[in-house]
Amino acid sequence: MGSPASPSVVTAGERGPARACDRLIIALDTSSWEQALQWVDCLPQVLWWKVGLELFTAVGSPILRALKERGKRIFLDLKLHDIPNTVGRATQVAVGYGVDLLTIHASGGSAMLRAAAEAAQSSPCRLLAVTLLTSLSPEQVQQELCIGKDPANYALHLAQLAQAQGFTGLVCSPQEVARLRQIFGSDVLLVTPGIRLSPSFTGDDPTEDDQQRIWTPARALQAGADYLVVGRPVTAAPDPVIAFQQLCDAVAH
Ligand code: C5P
Repeated sequence: MGSPASPSVVTAGERGPARACDRLIIALDTSSWEQALQWVDCLPQVLWWKVGLELFTAVGSPILRALKERGKRIFLDLKLHDIPNTVGRATQVAVGYGVDLLTIHASGGSAMLRAAAEAAQSSPCRLLAVTLLTSLSPEQVQQELCIGKDPANYALHLAQLAQAQGFTGLVCSPQEVARLRQIFGSDVLLVTPGIRLSPSFTGDDPTEDDQQRIWTPARALQAGADYLVVGRPVTAAPDPVIAFQQLCDAVAH
């Protein structure tokens, strides 16, 4: 296992870093270069940052360089999905930036997944397969996408497809994490968004104040997650430094 301070890779079998707070990946969900770096610089204790479609589309690869110059580890969440040749080439470019984690949609099929895996095989970057977006309701999955399986089993099917092509990491919802850990064992890296300390943290819909829907950091880690992705509970908090510290306290216990 790499030391959290080192630029070491998230190697196959790594179950997460030694420092509990380094299990937190903070999402830079903004289109503003200045805002992104303000978050990074006001939270020097954060090791892992997620760059997603919004920020990458707005400012491009220089943000990755800026993060690397600050010694950060990078989750590039591009959720690639295209023909195999295009995804393979895009993966090659993305891993060339020195990112640590990169997402690929599992629903692109085995040839696409294999093209990505081959493009990344000599790189320290670990690819994460995205199965089914949790934003899709069971009705949408069935009626709009015409998928006969229920969402949980369809997500599992896609996870197995990705694993067969050499993927050793998955993005999954907290609801799925325990089952995936049980099925895939300790070698798979499970990265879980959808984390809240409490609904009041973000001003989320109070109807979500429900133990079934609120996954605290401790609960997600206990279920088997390796890394937790957190966005607005930190970046939209009145004081992101305090919010991050509260999350660190929560993952440490
Ligand atoms: O909701 P929050 O602001 O904590 O989300 C942080 C990140 O997690 C976002 O960048 C989003 O892309 C990702 N996310 C996800 N699936 C979810 C919820 C959030 O991939 N169900």
